[in-house]
Amino acid sequence: MRYVVITGVSRGLGEALVNQFEADPDTTVVALGRSFSDAQRIAAGPRLVLVHCDLAEPAGLPHATELGELLAEADEVILIHNAAVVDPIGPIGDLSVDDLSTAVAVNLTAPMLLTNSLLAGLPPTVGRVLVMFVSSGAAHRVIDGWAAYSATKRGAEEFFAHLAKQYEDDPRVRVEVVNPGVMDTGMQETIRAADFAGRQRFLDLYENDELPDPAAVAARLIAEHIRP
Ligand SMILES: NC(=O)c1ccc[n+]([C@@H]2O[C@H](COP(=O)([O-])OP(=O)(O)OC[C@H]3O[C@@H](n4cnc5c(N)ncnc54)[C@H](OP(=O)(O)O)[C@@H]3O)[C@@H](O)[C@H]2O)c1
Repeated sequence: MRYVVITGVSRGLGEALVNQFEADPDTTVVALGRSFSDAQRIAAGPRLVLVHCDLAEPAGLPHATELGELLAEADEVILIHNAAVVDPIGPIGDLSVDDLSTAVAVNLTAPMLLTNSLLAGLPPTVGRVLVMFVSSGAAHRVIDGWAAYSATKRGAEEFFAHLAKQYEDDPRVRVEVVNPGVMDTGMQETIRAADFAGRQRFLDLYENDELPDPAAVAARLIAEHIRP
């Protein structure tokens, strides 16, 4: 049985990925998040396990033992770090301490801790592991006001580059850092509502109907990075 452990599934890309994994009878989804959609709460059961945790609170993240128990029946595990926050957007010096701390916790600390705990708790029966980090083009560009998002995505990419190096001679473990590109989600609403120099580009993408549906992005990510 394939197990997909995924963060941030209540909406956006995470919700779209879960919808597609749920259609596969040989996949069990373990969804980590602080909220879930009505459909997810109704569908929750042995093949959709909802684990409530706020990714901004490192102490509340599942530990190795708990993850090991959740994955006891798995022979293949896919860990997808999808959840992220784009806030706070603004000049360094004006950023809220709480919002900045949350961005680091959700975008960087949680992926590092969850990866470490999952590998520590992995049952010996698991023959294949894929760790996927959903990043952003912003990890490699300076965008006015986006220091928190950009730095945390870049930091996480570095962590997963180290993980890939660690397993370069072990075909059991694969590491993928993916950039989904812009898409029509709540994160884009947050960006359009923010005050920063490059905002017009994002308003134009929305006005011109150029933001892909997250379901199409999810299908592409699965086809290009997960199926092989
Ligand atoms: N949208 C884009 O244009 C775009 C472009 C490039 C990369 N990306 C990346 O794609 C991924 C998905 O983005 P998206 O656009 O789908 O974002 P989104 O619509 O804002 O959804 C973010 C998800 O993360 C969850 N989340 C946020 N803070 C959390 C916390 N403290 N604890 C638990 N869950 C939390 C949210 O849950 P709640 O409902 O509880 O808040 C939600 O399910 C992210 O990694 C993002 O950086 C997006």
